[in-house]
Amino acid sequence: MPNVVVVGTQWGDEGKGKVVDHLARGVDAVVRFQGGNNAGHTLVVQGEKTVLHLIPSGILQDETVCVVGNGVVVDPVVLVEELDGLANKNCGVEPGRLVLCPEAHVILSVHRLIDRLREEARGAQRIGTTCKGIGPTYEDKVARRGVRVSDLLDEAALRERLSKLLSVRNREIVDVHGADPVNTEELIAELRPQIERIRPYIADTLGLLHGIWKAGGSILFEGAQGTYLDIDHGTYPYVTSSNTVAGAACAGSGVGPTAIDEVVGVAKAYTTRVGSGPFPTELTEATGEKLRSIGHEFGATTGRPRRCGWFDALIARQAAMVNGLTQLALTKLDVLSGFDSIRIATGYEGLTRVPSRVEALEAVVPIYEELPGWDEDLTGLTEFEQLPENCRAYIARIEELVGVPVTIIGVGPGREQTIIRSL
Ligand code: IMP
Repeated sequence: MPNVVVVGTQWGDEGKGKVVDHLARGVDAVVRFQGGNNAGHTLVVQGEKTVLHLIPSGILQDETVCVVGNGVVVDPVVLVEELDGLANKNCGVEPGRLVLCPEAHVILSVHRLIDRLREEARGAQRIGTTCKGIGPTYEDKVARRGVRVSDLLDEAALRERLSKLLSVRNREIVDVHGADPVNTEELIAELRPQIERIRPYIADTLGLLHGIWKAGGSILFEGAQGTYLDIDHGTYPYVTSSNTVAGAACAGSGVGPTAIDEVVGVAKAYTTRVGSGPFPTELTEATGEKLRSIGHEFGATTGRPRRCGWFDALIARQAAMVNGLTQLALTKLDVLSGFDSIRIATGYEGLTRVPSRVEALEAVVPIYEELPGWDEDLTGLTEFEQLPENCRAYIARIEELVGVPVTIIGVGPGREQTIIRSL
Protein backbone atom coordinates (compact mmCIF):
# COMPACT_ATOMS: atom_id res chain seq x y z
CA MET A 1 0.00 0.00 0.00
CA PRO A 2 1.25 3.53 -0.70
CA ASN A 3 2.31 6.07 1.90
CA VAL A 4 -0.40 8.72 1.92
CA VAL A 5 -0.68 12.23 3.35
CA VAL A 6 -4.17 13.51 4.21
CA VAL A 7 -4.64 17.27 4.55
CA GLY A 8 -7.48 19.75 4.81
CA THR A 9 -7.93 22.04 1.81
CA GLN A 10 -10.08 24.72 3.47
CA TRP A 11 -10.13 26.12 7.04
CA GLY A 12 -10.17 22.82 8.90
CA ASP A 13 -13.13 20.67 9.96
CA GLU A 14 -13.35 19.15 6.48
CA GLY A 15 -14.00 15.67 7.87
CA LYS A 16 -10.40 14.48 7.75
CA GLY A 17 -10.92 12.13 10.71
CA LYS A 18 -13.40 10.05 8.79
CA VAL A 19 -11.24 9.96 5.66
CA VAL A 20 -8.21 8.96 7.75
CA ASP A 21 -10.28 6.33 9.49
CA HIS A 22 -11.19 4.90 6.10
CA LEU A 23 -7.68 5.09 4.64
CA ALA A 24 -6.11 3.71 7.83
CA ARG A 25 -7.57 0.27 7.22
CA GLY A 26 -4.66 -2.04 6.69
CA VAL A 27 -1.90 0.57 7.09
CA ASP A 28 0.93 -0.09 9.52
CA ALA A 29 1.13 3.37 11.09
CA VAL A 30 -0.89 6.57 11.29
CA VAL A 31 1.16 9.67 12.14
CA ARG A 32 0.12 13.10 13.33
CA PHE A 33 2.76 15.60 12.24
CA GLN A 34 1.62 19.09 13.33
CA GLY A 35 -0.81 20.97 15.52
CA GLY A 36 -2.09 19.71 18.81
CA ASN A 37 -5.40 19.32 20.55
CA ASN A 38 -6.77 22.35 18.70
CA ALA A 39 -7.83 19.68 16.21
CA GLY A 40 -10.93 17.64 16.83
CA HIS A 41 -11.80 14.53 14.92
CA THR A 42 -15.29 13.19 15.39
CA LEU A 43 -15.60 9.56 14.39
CA VAL A 44 -18.76 7.53 14.38
CA VAL A 45 -18.06 3.82 14.64
CA GLN A 46 -20.97 1.43 14.97
CA GLY A 47 -23.22 4.35 15.85
CA GLU A 48 -20.98 5.51 18.69
CA LYS A 49 -19.38 8.95 18.59
CA THR A 50 -15.74 9.36 19.61
CA VAL A 51 -13.98 12.73 19.55
CA LEU A 52 -10.20 12.65 19.48
CA HIS A 53 -8.12 15.79 19.74
CA LEU A 54 -4.59 14.48 19.91
CA ILE A 55 -4.38 10.73 19.47
CA PRO A 56 -4.44 9.86 15.74
CA SER A 57 -7.80 8.57 14.54
CA GLY A 58 -6.14 5.31 13.47
CA ILE A 59 -6.31 4.20 17.11
CA LEU A 60 -9.75 2.76 16.41
CA GLN A 61 -8.26 0.30 13.91
CA ASP A 62 -7.16 -2.86 15.66
CA GLU A 63 -3.62 -3.25 14.38
CA THR A 64 -2.47 0.24 13.44
CA VAL A 65 0.38 1.89 15.34
CA CYS A 66 -0.38 5.54 16.06
CA VAL A 67 2.49 7.99 16.16
CA VAL A 68 2.55 11.50 17.55
CA GLY A 69 5.38 13.04 15.56
CA ASN A 70 7.97 15.67 16.45
CA GLY A 71 5.96 18.45 14.77
CA VAL A 72 3.02 18.04 17.14
CA VAL A 73 2.58 20.00 20.38
CA VAL A 74 1.44 17.64 23.11
CA ASP A 75 -0.67 18.57 26.11
CA PRO A 76 -0.10 15.79 28.68
CA VAL A 77 -3.41 16.55 30.40
CA VAL A 78 -5.30 15.96 27.16
CA LEU A 79 -3.29 12.88 26.30
CA VAL A 80 -4.11 11.29 29.65
CA GLU A 81 -7.79 12.25 29.29
CA GLU A 82 -7.96 10.63 25.86
CA LEU A 83 -6.22 7.49 27.06
CA ASP A 84 -8.72 7.26 29.94
CA GLY A 85 -11.65 7.98 27.61
CA LEU A 86 -10.64 5.21 25.23
CA ALA A 87 -10.07 2.80 28.13
CA ASN A 88 -13.62 3.54 29.34
CA LYS A 89 -14.90 2.52 25.91
CA ASN A 90 -13.09 -0.80 26.16
CA CYS A 91 -10.52 0.49 23.74
CA GLY A 92 -7.51 0.61 26.08
CA VAL A 93 -4.30 1.74 24.39
CA GLU A 94 -1.28 -0.46 25.03
CA PRO A 95 2.16 1.16 24.80
CA GLY A 96 3.36 0.17 21.35
CA ARG A 97 -0.02 1.04 19.82
CA LEU A 98 0.62 4.70 20.59
CA VAL A 99 4.13 6.09 20.31
CA LEU A 100 5.10 9.58 21.32
CA CYS A 101 8.12 11.29 19.76
CA PRO A 102 10.70 12.55 22.29
CA GLU A 103 11.27 15.69 20.18
CA ALA A 104 7.63 16.84 20.27
CA HIS A 105 7.09 20.00 22.31
CA VAL A 106 4.94 20.05 25.42
CA ILE A 107 1.97 22.33 26.00
CA LEU A 108 2.09 23.48 29.63
CA SER A 109 -0.68 25.08 31.68
CA VAL A 110 1.26 28.36 31.38
CA HIS A 111 0.77 28.20 27.59
CA ARG A 112 -2.96 27.76 27.97
CA LEU A 113 -3.03 30.66 30.41
CA ILE A 114 -1.17 33.00 28.05
CA ASP A 115 -3.34 31.99 25.08
CA ARG A 116 -6.45 32.89 27.07
CA LEU A 117 -5.10 36.12 28.59
CA ARG A 118 -4.04 37.36 25.16
CA GLU A 119 -7.34 36.56 23.48
CA GLU A 120 -9.18 38.39 26.28
CA ALA A 121 -6.87 41.38 25.91
CA ARG A 122 -7.35 41.51 22.12
CA GLY A 123 -11.10 42.11 22.49
CA ALA A 124 -12.67 42.67 19.07
CA GLN A 125 -9.31 41.99 17.38
CA ARG A 126 -9.14 38.45 18.73
CA ILE A 127 -7.98 35.65 16.45
CA GLY A 128 -10.54 33.27 17.87
CA THR A 129 -7.90 30.74 18.90
CA THR A 130 -9.01 27.54 20.57
CA CYS A 131 -7.24 28.80 23.77
CA LYS A 132 -5.50 25.44 24.06
CA GLY A 133 -2.03 27.01 24.30
CA ILE A 134 -1.00 25.99 20.79
CA GLY A 135 0.42 29.35 19.67
CA PRO A 136 2.44 30.09 22.84
CA THR A 137 3.93 26.56 22.75
CA TYR A 138 5.11 26.93 19.15
CA GLU A 139 6.50 30.37 20.07
CA ASP A 140 8.61 28.83 22.82
CA LYS A 141 9.75 26.11 20.41
CA VAL A 142 10.98 28.68 17.91
CA ALA A 143 12.47 30.85 20.66
CA ARG A 144 14.46 27.74 21.74
CA ARG A 145 13.20 27.75 25.29
CA GLY A 146 10.46 25.12 24.90
CA VAL A 147 10.05 21.91 26.86
CA ARG A 148 10.19 18.73 24.80
CA VAL A 149 8.70 15.35 25.64
CA SER A 150 12.19 13.96 26.32
CA ASP A 151 12.71 16.69 28.97
CA LEU A 152 9.82 15.24 30.94
CA LEU A 153 11.89 12.13 31.62
CA ASP A 154 14.55 13.93 33.70
CA GLU A 155 13.15 16.06 36.51
CA ALA A 156 16.35 18.03 37.11
CA ALA A 157 16.59 18.99 33.44
CA LEU A 158 12.86 19.74 33.39
CA ARG A 159 13.22 22.08 36.40
CA GLU A 160 16.00 23.97 34.65
CA ARG A 161 14.05 24.33 31.40
CA LEU A 162 10.88 25.38 33.17
CA SER A 163 12.56 28.07 35.22
CA LYS A 164 14.12 29.56 32.07
CA LEU A 165 10.80 29.46 30.25
CA LEU A 166 8.90 30.94 33.19
CA SER A 167 11.41 33.74 33.71
CA VAL A 168 10.34 35.03 30.29
CA ARG A 169 6.67 34.07 30.38
CA ASN A 170 5.99 35.43 33.88
CA ARG A 171 7.07 38.88 32.72
CA GLU A 172 4.23 38.87 30.21
CA ILE A 173 1.76 37.31 32.65
CA VAL A 174 2.48 39.79 35.43
CA ASP A 175 3.57 43.00 33.66
CA VAL A 176 1.25 42.92 30.65
CA HIS A 177 -1.79 41.07 31.95
CA GLY A 178 -1.57 41.77 35.69
CA ALA A 179 -2.12 38.10 36.52
CA ASP A 180 -0.32 35.96 39.11
CA PRO A 181 3.05 34.46 38.14
CA VAL A 182 3.39 30.72 37.54
CA ASN A 183 5.65 28.82 39.93
CA THR A 184 8.15 26.21 38.70
CA GLU A 185 7.61 23.74 41.53
CA GLU A 186 3.83 23.94 41.22
CA LEU A 187 4.11 23.26 37.53
CA ILE A 188 6.34 20.24 38.16
CA ALA A 189 3.93 18.91 40.78
CA GLU A 190 1.10 19.31 38.29
CA LEU A 191 3.05 17.44 35.62
CA ARG A 192 4.35 14.51 37.74
CA PRO A 193 1.30 12.22 37.60
CA GLN A 194 0.85 12.91 33.90
CA ILE A 195 4.48 12.15 33.17
CA GLU A 196 4.21 8.78 34.90
CA ARG A 197 1.14 7.96 32.85
CA ILE A 198 2.63 8.87 29.45
CA ARG A 199 6.19 7.63 30.07
CA PRO A 200 5.56 4.14 28.60
CA TYR A 201 4.41 5.67 25.34
CA ILE A 202 7.58 7.68 24.67
CA ALA A 203 9.85 5.91 22.19
CA ASP A 204 11.93 6.27 19.03
CA THR A 205 9.33 7.21 16.42
CA LEU A 206 11.98 7.92 13.80
CA GLY A 207 13.33 4.38 13.96
CA LEU A 208 9.82 2.98 14.01
CA LEU A 209 8.65 4.88 10.91
CA HIS A 210 11.80 4.22 8.91
CA GLY A 211 11.62 0.55 9.85
CA ILE A 212 8.06 0.35 8.51
CA TRP A 213 8.94 2.19 5.31
CA LYS A 214 12.07 0.19 4.58
CA ALA A 215 10.21 -3.07 5.18
CA GLY A 216 7.66 -2.06 2.51
CA GLY A 217 4.93 -1.22 5.03
CA SER A 218 2.55 1.71 4.69
CA ILE A 219 2.22 4.95 6.62
CA LEU A 220 -0.66 7.38 6.70
CA PHE A 221 0.15 10.97 7.63
CA GLU A 222 -2.83 12.64 9.29
CA GLY A 223 -2.95 16.40 8.88
CA ALA A 224 -4.87 18.66 11.24
CA GLN A 225 -6.56 22.03 10.57
CA GLY A 226 -6.51 23.06 6.90
CA THR A 227 -4.43 24.72 4.20
CA TYR A 228 -5.84 28.20 4.90
CA LEU A 229 -4.94 27.94 8.58
CA ASP A 230 -1.30 27.24 7.64
CA ILE A 231 1.12 29.73 9.20
CA ASP A 232 2.67 30.46 5.74
CA HIS A 233 -0.02 29.64 3.21
CA GLY A 234 -3.12 30.55 5.20
CA THR A 235 -5.04 33.77 5.76
CA TYR A 236 -2.37 35.26 8.03
CA PRO A 237 -2.70 36.39 10.81
CA TYR A 238 -5.96 34.46 11.18
CA VAL A 239 -4.14 31.15 11.12
CA THR A 240 -2.81 28.51 13.45
CA SER A 241 0.87 28.34 14.45
CA SER A 242 2.06 25.36 12.42
CA ASN A 243 2.46 24.39 8.78
CA THR A 244 -0.64 22.39 7.97
CA VAL A 245 0.22 21.65 4.32
CA ALA A 246 1.36 18.27 3.01
CA GLY A 247 5.04 19.25 3.02
CA ALA A 248 4.88 19.47 6.81
CA ALA A 249 4.25 15.72 6.97
CA CYS A 250 7.95 15.19 6.34
CA ALA A 251 9.38 17.84 8.67
CA GLY A 252 6.91 16.92 11.38
CA SER A 253 7.63 13.20 11.38
CA GLY A 254 11.23 12.80 10.21
CA VAL A 255 10.28 10.87 7.07
CA GLY A 256 11.73 12.32 3.86
CA PRO A 257 9.64 13.44 0.83
CA THR A 258 10.73 10.44 -1.25
CA ALA A 259 8.57 8.25 1.00
CA ILE A 260 5.32 9.98 0.03
CA ASP A 261 3.28 8.38 -2.77
CA GLU A 262 -0.12 10.08 -2.62
CA VAL A 263 -1.58 13.28 -1.18
CA VAL A 264 -5.33 13.28 -0.48
CA GLY A 265 -6.94 16.68 0.03
CA VAL A 266 -10.15 16.70 2.03
CA ALA A 267 -12.75 19.31 1.07
CA LYS A 268 -16.22 19.77 2.40
CA ALA A 269 -18.83 19.94 -0.41
CA TYR A 270 -19.37 23.52 0.83
CA THR A 271 -17.10 25.66 3.04
CA THR A 272 -16.92 26.37 6.77
CA ARG A 273 -14.66 28.34 9.06
CA VAL A 274 -14.48 28.79 12.83
CA GLY A 275 -12.83 31.77 14.43
CA SER A 276 -12.16 35.13 12.83
CA GLY A 277 -10.69 35.95 9.43
CA PRO A 278 -11.71 36.41 5.81
CA PHE A 279 -14.14 33.99 4.18
CA PRO A 280 -15.10 35.12 0.65
CA THR A 281 -18.04 32.75 0.05
CA GLU A 282 -19.56 33.09 3.54
CA LEU A 283 -23.37 33.10 3.69
CA THR A 284 -24.61 35.26 6.52
CA GLU A 285 -28.33 34.80 5.84
CA ALA A 286 -30.83 31.93 5.81
CA THR A 287 -28.86 29.70 3.43
CA GLY A 288 -25.82 29.80 5.75
CA GLU A 289 -28.10 28.98 8.68
CA LYS A 290 -29.58 26.07 6.72
CA LEU A 291 -26.12 24.65 5.99
CA ARG A 292 -25.15 25.05 9.65
CA SER A 293 -28.22 23.29 10.98
CA ILE A 294 -28.34 20.44 8.44
CA GLY A 295 -24.57 19.98 8.57
CA HIS A 296 -24.42 20.26 12.40
CA GLU A 297 -21.67 22.81 11.94
CA PHE A 298 -20.49 23.35 15.48
CA GLY A 299 -16.80 22.99 16.43
CA ALA A 300 -15.70 19.58 17.77
CA THR A 301 -13.09 21.26 19.99
CA THR A 302 -14.78 24.47 21.15
CA GLY A 303 -18.46 23.91 20.33
CA ARG A 304 -18.52 27.27 18.53
CA PRO A 305 -20.97 27.64 15.60
CA ARG A 306 -19.06 27.41 12.32
CA ARG A 307 -19.45 30.07 9.66
CA CYS A 308 -20.83 28.46 6.47
CA GLY A 309 -20.66 29.27 2.76
CA TRP A 310 -20.56 27.88 -0.77
CA PHE A 311 -17.71 25.81 -2.19
CA ASP A 312 -14.81 28.04 -3.18
CA ALA A 313 -13.00 26.53 -6.14
CA LEU A 314 -10.17 29.09 -6.14
CA ILE A 315 -9.34 28.21 -2.54
CA ALA A 316 -9.43 24.51 -3.46
CA ARG A 317 -7.43 25.00 -6.70
CA GLN A 318 -4.65 26.82 -4.84
CA ALA A 319 -4.73 24.15 -2.10
CA ALA A 320 -4.21 21.54 -4.83
CA MET A 321 -1.06 23.41 -5.90
CA VAL A 322 0.36 24.05 -2.45
CA ASN A 323 -0.17 20.47 -1.28
CA GLY A 324 0.54 18.65 -4.55
CA LEU A 325 -2.82 16.89 -4.29
CA THR A 326 -3.25 13.67 -6.23
CA GLN A 327 -6.82 12.96 -5.03
CA LEU A 328 -9.71 14.82 -3.50
CA ALA A 329 -12.08 13.51 -0.82
CA LEU A 330 -15.37 15.43 -0.94
CA THR A 331 -17.18 15.20 2.39
CA LYS A 332 -20.68 15.97 3.65
CA LEU A 333 -22.22 15.91 0.18
CA ASP A 334 -25.47 14.67 1.77
CA VAL A 335 -25.89 18.08 3.45
CA LEU A 336 -26.53 19.68 0.04
CA SER A 337 -29.65 17.56 -0.69
CA GLY A 338 -32.77 19.72 -0.81
CA PHE A 339 -31.29 22.95 -2.17
CA ASP A 340 -33.03 24.15 -5.39
CA SER A 341 -29.73 25.32 -6.74
CA ILE A 342 -26.16 25.21 -5.50
CA ARG A 343 -23.49 27.81 -6.10
CA ILE A 344 -19.76 27.39 -6.64
CA ALA A 345 -17.32 30.28 -6.62
CA THR A 346 -15.18 29.62 -9.67
CA GLY A 347 -12.79 32.47 -8.86
CA TYR A 348 -12.63 36.10 -7.73
CA GLU A 349 -13.12 39.08 -10.06
CA GLY A 350 -9.81 40.11 -11.60
CA LEU A 351 -7.70 37.60 -9.64
CA THR A 352 -6.12 34.23 -10.34
CA ARG A 353 -4.68 33.70 -6.84
CA VAL A 354 -5.93 34.01 -3.30
CA PRO A 355 -4.57 37.44 -2.32
CA SER A 356 -1.86 37.51 0.30
CA ARG A 357 -3.15 40.34 2.52
CA VAL A 358 -6.30 39.67 4.52
CA GLU A 359 -7.58 43.16 3.72
CA ALA A 360 -7.45 42.28 0.02
CA LEU A 361 -9.04 38.88 0.59
CA GLU A 362 -11.85 40.51 2.56
CA ALA A 363 -12.55 42.77 -0.43
CA VAL A 364 -12.65 40.12 -3.21
CA VAL A 365 -15.80 39.62 -5.26
CA PRO A 366 -16.43 35.91 -5.87
CA ILE A 367 -17.67 34.87 -9.29
CA TYR A 368 -20.48 32.38 -8.82
CA GLU A 369 -21.78 29.67 -11.06
CA GLU A 370 -25.21 28.20 -10.31
CA LEU A 371 -25.82 24.48 -10.65
CA PRO A 372 -29.16 22.67 -10.27
CA GLY A 373 -29.62 20.95 -6.91
CA TRP A 374 -31.10 17.55 -6.06
CA ASP A 375 -33.68 16.37 -3.54
CA GLU A 376 -32.70 12.74 -3.06
CA ASP A 377 -31.33 11.60 0.29
CA LEU A 378 -27.77 10.40 -0.28
CA THR A 379 -27.11 8.91 3.14
CA GLY A 380 -27.82 5.30 2.19
CA LEU A 381 -25.94 5.26 -1.11
CA THR A 382 -22.86 3.13 -1.55
CA GLU A 383 -21.93 3.46 -5.25
CA PHE A 384 -20.99 6.51 -7.29
CA GLU A 385 -23.43 5.54 -10.04
CA GLN A 386 -26.33 5.70 -7.53
CA LEU A 387 -25.79 9.43 -6.95
CA PRO A 388 -28.40 11.68 -8.62
CA GLU A 389 -27.35 13.07 -11.99
CA ASN A 390 -27.19 16.67 -10.73
CA CYS A 391 -25.02 15.55 -7.85
CA ARG A 392 -22.58 13.82 -10.22
CA ALA A 393 -22.56 16.96 -12.35
CA TYR A 394 -21.64 18.99 -9.23
CA ILE A 395 -18.73 16.64 -8.50
CA ALA A 396 -17.60 16.75 -12.13
CA ARG A 397 -17.58 20.56 -12.07
CA ILE A 398 -15.52 20.58 -8.88
CA GLU A 399 -13.02 18.18 -10.43
CA GLU A 400 -12.78 20.38 -13.51
CA LEU A 401 -12.27 23.57 -11.50
CA VAL A 402 -9.80 22.10 -9.00
CA GLY A 403 -7.96 19.87 -11.45
CA VAL A 404 -7.91 16.84 -9.14
CA PRO A 405 -10.09 13.69 -9.29
CA VAL A 406 -12.64 13.11 -6.52
CA THR A 407 -12.03 9.56 -5.30
CA ILE A 408 -13.75 9.52 -1.91
CA ILE A 409 -17.23 10.91 -1.23
CA GLY A 410 -18.77 11.32 2.22
CA VAL A 411 -22.56 10.91 2.39
CA GLY A 412 -23.05 10.81 6.16
CA PRO A 413 -21.12 10.73 9.42
CA GLY A 414 -20.90 6.93 9.74
CA ARG A 415 -17.84 4.94 8.79
CA GLU A 416 -19.83 3.04 6.15
CA GLN A 417 -21.34 6.19 4.63
CA THR A 418 -18.40 6.63 2.30
CA ILE A 419 -18.42 6.09 -1.45
CA ILE A 420 -15.13 4.99 -2.93
CA ARG A 421 -14.73 5.69 -6.58
CA SER A 422 -12.28 3.70 -8.61
CA LEU A 423 -11.09 5.78 -11.55
P1 IMP B 1 -5.14 28.00 17.49
O1 IMP B 1 -4.74 26.91 16.58
O2 IMP B 1 -5.88 27.54 18.72
O3 IMP B 1 -4.02 28.95 17.80
O4 IMP B 1 -6.23 28.91 16.70
C1 IMP B 1 -5.90 29.67 15.55
C2 IMP B 1 -7.01 29.64 14.52
O5 IMP B 1 -7.09 28.33 13.97
C3 IMP B 1 -8.41 29.93 15.06
O6 IMP B 1 -9.16 30.62 14.07
C4 IMP B 1 -9.00 28.55 15.31
O7 IMP B 1 -10.40 28.57 15.29
C5 IMP B 1 -8.42 27.82 14.12
N1 IMP B 1 -8.30 26.37 14.33
C6 IMP B 1 -7.36 25.72 15.03
N2 IMP B 1 -7.56 24.40 14.97
C7 IMP B 1 -8.63 24.19 14.20
C8 IMP B 1 -9.31 23.01 13.72
O8 IMP B 1 -8.94 21.88 13.99
N3 IMP B 1 -10.38 23.24 12.93
C9 IMP B 1 -10.79 24.48 12.57
N4 IMP B 1 -10.18 25.60 12.97
C10 IMP B 1 -9.12 25.46 13.78
